[in-house]
Amino acid sequence: MKKNEKYIPALNQNWLTPLYDPLLKWGMREETFKRYLVEHSHLEAGQKVLDLGCGTGTLTIQIKQFLPQIELFGLDGDPAVLQIARSKADAVGLDIEWEKGLAYELPYPPASYDRVISSLMIHHLTAQNKLKTFCEVFRVLKPSGEFHLLDFGKPTNLGMRLVSILISRLEEAGDNIRGLIPIMLHQAGFSEIIESKHFNTVFGELIYYQSLY
Ligand SMILES: C[S@@+](CC[C@H](N)C(=O)[O-])C[C@H]1O[C@@H](n2cnc3c(N)ncnc32)[C@H](O)[C@@H]1O
Repeated sequence: MKKNEKYIPALNQNWLTPLYDPLLKWGMREETFKRYLVEHSHLEAGQKVLDLGCGTGTLTIQIKQFLPQIELFGLDGDPAVLQIARSKADAVGLDIEWEKGLAYELPYPPASYDRVISSLMIHHLTAQNKLKTFCEVFRVLKPSGEFHLLDFGKPTNLGMRLVSILISRLEEAGDNIRGLIPIMLHQAGFSEIIESKHFNTVFGELIYYQSLY
């Protein structure tokens, strides 16, 4: 990470991290969109899968419970959320590798993953680091691989346009709200990007993008 580069933790401020799970569960009804993401990521037994920016591990745990016969890694840059994720997985006896690392400098060799899945992380990165991250995801995926991304996107109705005003000023979500994510995914090398599903939430409209190598 470059000097002066800001790292944005799960709820923007480190002291708010303990509130992340309750807010997502009760405020954003994360179960709905995370379950949809897991069920539509074309997961198969034996695959190697990365949850990028895994945070407190809720999605990572759902992936492993959905299909225990995959090799699963959860990467995040914040040791505090990784500690929460590890305890949650240990409590239910799941075998997941947790790693500290930055999304735009992935510590993996080329063509090493079948699937990369990421939820609500990309809007934490500057435009430059979003593109670097998508290039890194493209690099670590096998040629048959897929990138399944869920994050804020360009609102498609008046209600979502209004709630998006707040999130577009917070963190680095402006690129998302302006609809730049699919363009960046193409720039990183992905041949086909499918906007598979939209979810309205109290913080804005989430879009699920399926990107093919
Ligand atoms: C809003 S949380 C989402 C967590 C989880 N994926 C979810 O859906 O609940 C965003 C996460 O991205 C992580 N993050 C932010 N910048 C990152 C970076 N450059 N590299 C890796 N993780 C990063 C934060 O630490 C945080 O855990």
